[in-house]
Amino acid sequence: MTAILETKNLSIIFGGHTAVDAVSISVPPNHFKSIIGPNGAGKTTFFNLLSGQLTPTEGQVFFKGKEITKLSPTKRTRAGIGRSFQITNVFPNLTVIENVRLAVQSHAGIRYQMFKHFRSYKNSRNRQRSG
Ligand SMILES: Nc1ncnc2c1ncn2[C@@H]1O[C@H](COP(=O)(O)OP(=O)(O)O)[C@@H](O)[C@H]1O
Ligand SMILES: [Mg+2]
Repeated sequence: MTAILETKNLSIIFGGHTAVDAVSISVPPNHFKSIIGPNGAGKTTFFNLLSGQLTPTEGQVFFKGKEITKLSPTKRTRAGIGRSFQITNVFPNLTVIENVRLAVQSHAGIRYQMFKHFRSYKNSRNRQRSG
């Protein structure tokens, strides 16, 4: 079965410091895996490599069998990768319902269109109301 997420020999070196050292993991569909380790072990750096905030010095990342090592975080999100952060953030200048609408729209693949009014997205309006 094709892994949902896979890394091969993933490493990143900051200056002379190897923060992630040749990590190979494979996550099959419908499985949970945990990355554990003490402070400074490289967990956050590893997740930054998975979501594209960082580019590895060596190794590869695959999502559903396709290599995504060089894809931007935006493209990885569009491909279907989600990430939640240790400290959750919302857009402080938007209302609660606007924050929810953004999440629903991004899930539906709706992007910014200058000449389309947000109220015309009926489905995301309904979903943001029903939960
Ligand atoms: N951008 C960076 N530049 C240099 N060193 C970094 C950078 N990011 C993380 N590190 C170092 O990499 C190591 C791993 O950090 P981190 O991934 O935050 O660990 P963890 O999340 O497991 O606590 C630490 O020694 C940290 O100081
Ligand atoms: Mg961390």
